[in-house]
Amino acid sequence: MDKHLVYRMISMIPARQRARFVMRILNCAFFLFPGFLQGFKESRCVEYACSPPMGNLASGRTLFTLFNSSCLPTHPRCVTDLHPPSMMSDDPFFHPDTWWASAVAAGEKDEIRLDLEKRFCLTHVVLSFRSPRPAAMMLERSQDFGQTWETLKLFARNCSEMFGVPDDASQAGALCTSRYSNVVPCSRGEIIFRSIGLGSGIVDPYSPEAVSRLTLTNLRIQLLKSQQCPPSKGQRSILDPSNASFLPTVHSRSLTALTSTSAQLDSVPFAIYYLVAKGMCLCHGHAENCLPKNKGQDSNTVSGVCVCTHHTAGEHCERCEPLYNDRPWRAANGSSGESNTCQKCECNGHAESCHFSQRVWLSTGGSSGGVCDSCQHNTVGRRCQRCCPGYHRHPARPLNSPHACTRCLCDPVGSVSMSSETPWCHPRSGQCHCKPGVGGTTCSHCLPGYWGFGEEGCKVCVCPLTCDPITGHCPDSRGNVKLYNVPIGGKIPELSHFKPQEDERVWPKELAVSALYFTGKCSCKEKRLKSMSDLCKMKHAYVIKASVLTAHDKGTHAVVQVKVRKVFRSGKLPLLQGTHNVYPLSWTSRGCTCPILNPGGSYLLAGPEELNTGRLLVTMQSLVVPWTPTLGFQVTEALHQACL
Ligand SMILES: *[C@@H]1O[C@H](CO)[C@@H](O)[C@H](O)[C@H]1NC(C)=O
Ligand SMILES: *[C@@H]1O[C@H](CO)[C@@H](O)[C@H](O)[C@H]1NC(C)=O
Ligand SMILES: *[C@@H]1O[C@H](CO)[C@@H](O)[C@H](O)[C@H]1NC(C)=O
Ligand SMILES: *[C@@H]1O[C@H](CO)[C@@H](O)[C@H](O)[C@H]1NC(C)=O
Repeated sequence: MDKHLVYRMISMIPARQRARFVMRILNCAFFLFPGFLQGFKESRCVEYACSPPMGNLASGRTLFTLFNSSCLPTHPRCVTDLHPPSMMSDDPFFHPDTWWASAVAAGEKDEIRLDLEKRFCLTHVVLSFRSPRPAAMMLERSQDFGQTWETLKLFARNCSEMFGVPDDASQAGALCTSRYSNVVPCSRGEIIFRSIGLGSGIVDPYSPEAVSRLTLTNLRIQLLKSQQCPPSKGQRSILDPSNASFLPTVHSRSLTALTSTSAQLDSVPFAIYYLVAKGMCLCHGHAENCLPKNKGQDSNTVSGVCVCTHHTAGEHCERCEPLYNDRPWRAANGSSGESNTCQKCECNGHAESCHFSQRVWLSTGGSSGGVCDSCQHNTVGRRCQRCCPGYHRHPARPLNSPHACTRCLCDPVGSVSMSSETPWCHPRSGQCHCKPGVGGTTCSHCLPGYWGFGEEGCKVCVCPLTCDPITGHCPDSRGNVKLYNVPIGGKIPELSHFKPQEDERVWPKELAVSALYFTGKCSCKEKRLKSMSDLCKMKHAYVIKASVLTAHDKGTHAVVQVKVRKVFRSGKLPLLQGTHNVYPLSWTSRGCTCPILNPGGSYLLAGPEELNTGRLLVTMQSLVVPWTPTLGFQVTEALHQACL
C-alpha cells in the first residue's frame, strides 16, 4: 500500500482514539512477550527463546454470527449486508468507522464465533462497541475445535443477578466482572480481556501453566443481553426498533443511503466497531515466524504453523528433530531467555533418528539419554558405535565412515563360527576364533609347533621345537639344535631385527608364537643376580642349567620344553639331564610368560616344584638368568663353597 495513503488514513482516525488504541495493543503485547517488536531486526532465536509476531487472530478469518452476513429473507430490515461480521475484523487503523451490526431483534441474543484451524495463543481480546455495551456477555474458548467450551470471563452489569456469581470488583479473581458493562459511554465503549492478568504471577509465557491459559482453537462471544442508552436532551433517540424503521426520519438532513440507515442502526441491539483477538501461533519459544497451514491466507492473517528453530520440529515445535533427542524436549524459558535447544544424538553418522530413554538418561547421570534408532552400515549400539556380530572395525577407516565395519573374513576350516552361516571375529581386531593349534587373523594355518591343518584344528608337534606344518615330520638334520630365538614373553623385539640364530629360514610374521598378540602385556620385571651369595640365600627347590627348546601356548597356560644340561640342586622330584617341561605360572594372569624364556636360549633356572602334579614351576620369584661363561664360573665357585 502507498505509504502516503497509509499516513492519510491513520491521520483520519481521531488522534485521541488512535493513541489510546495503539497504547492498549502495545501494553498488552509487551507485558507478556517483551521484545516481540525487535523480532523483525534479526533472528532472536539464535541461542535465545523467541516468539513469532503478534497479530489479530480474527483478521483474515471468517467471523460467524447467528445470521452470518446474509440478510434474513423474512426480516424487514436489511442492515447486515452493509455491516457484515467482517467489518469487525478489518484493520481498525485504516477502517476505524466500519462496524458490524447484529441482525437479531432487540431482546434477542447473538453470538460471534472465531474458528481457528490450529491451536493458537490468545493474549487478550478488545471489543469496541458502537452500540451500548451488553448488559450481559460471556467470553468462551474451546481447545478441542468446538467440542467443549470453557468460560473465560463473564461480563455483566450485575454479576449476581445475571449469573449468580460474585463480581471481581468486590472479590478479586472472580470469573465475572461488572467493569465493562456500564451503559455509558453509549458508543465506543470497550470490553477488554487478558488471558493472563497482570496480577497472576505468571512471568514465563512458555510455562505449562501459561500455555494452558493462553491456547485455544475457537473463541466465542455470547452477547446475552443488550441495553439501551438513556435518552439525553440534545439527542433524539428511536427507542423502539420495531417501529417506523422504513419511514423517513424526521431529522434527516439528507436522504443518502448512509444517513437513512444510520437511524435504523441506532436501534440495533449489538453493533461492534472492532474485535481484536490479539495472539500468535503457538511455538513454545522456538520460532519467530509462522506459515499458513494452507496457502492463500493473506499477509495480515496470523499463521499457525511454526518455522521451528532450536532443532525442534512439529507444527508447534512441540518435539525435537528426529536426530536431536539426546535430552527430553523442553519449551524455551521465557523468563531467563534460555532456548532449551534440543541436543543432537551421537550416532556416528549411522542413524537418521534417535529416541530418548529415561533409563539411559539416569545411567549417564543426566548427561545423555539418546538411543540411536536402526543403526545402518552394519553397526549396533546406543550410538551405533560397534560393529554388528560378523563384522569388525576397519583399521584405516574412521568410525563415521559408512564402511567402518567390514565383514569378518575367517577360514571356514580353521575357525569356530558362532552360528552356522556367519563367521565371527573380534569386533575390534578382526581376529577370528581359531580352533586349537590354529593361528593367524583368519585362522588359516597352524601355529608354530603344530601341524596338520584341518577340521579338528592342528596337532601338537612331537618334535622338541617344531615340525613340518603339513606332514608333522621332525626336521631331520640337526634335530633339536635347530633353535629359533622367538621370545614368548617380555619385550618383543622388532620383527625386522629378528634374526634366526642358526638358520637362514625366517619365520613368517604370523607364525611367530602367539605371545606376539599380547605385546602390550608382556613387560617383565627382571630379577637380577648380584652375587653368588644371593643364589645361596634363595631357597629354590631346583637349580638347573637348561636350554629352551619350544614354548606352547595352551590357551589357559604355557608349556616350555627345556633340555636340562646340568642339575645343581633338585628337590623331591627326581631330576635328570634330558628333556623336561617347565610351567611358567604367570601365563594365565598376565597373558604372557614372565620371566622371559626365549626358545633357543640357555639359562640358569631356579624355582619351586609342585609335588602333586610333578611339575617344575617358573614363578615371578624364580631365577631366570641367561647363561654366560661368567655365570658358569660363579656357579662353579658356589658349588665349591657348597652352598648350592
Ligand atoms: C453461519 O455459518 C456457519 C458456518 O458456515 C453455519 O454453520 C451456520 O448455519 C450459518 N448460520 C446461518 C444463520 O446461516
Ligand atoms: C444486583 O442485583 C441484586 C438482586 O437483584 C441486588 O440485590 C443488588 O443490589 C444488585 N447489585 C448492584 C451492584 O446493583
Ligand atoms: C411508533 O412510533 C409512534 C411515534 O413515533 C408511536 O405513536 C407508535 O405508538 C409507535 N408504534 C408502536 C407499535 O410502538
Ligand atoms: C526459567 O528460568 C528461571 C530463571 O533462571 C528459573 O527460575 C525457572 O525455573 C526456569 N523455568 C523452567 C521451566 O525451567
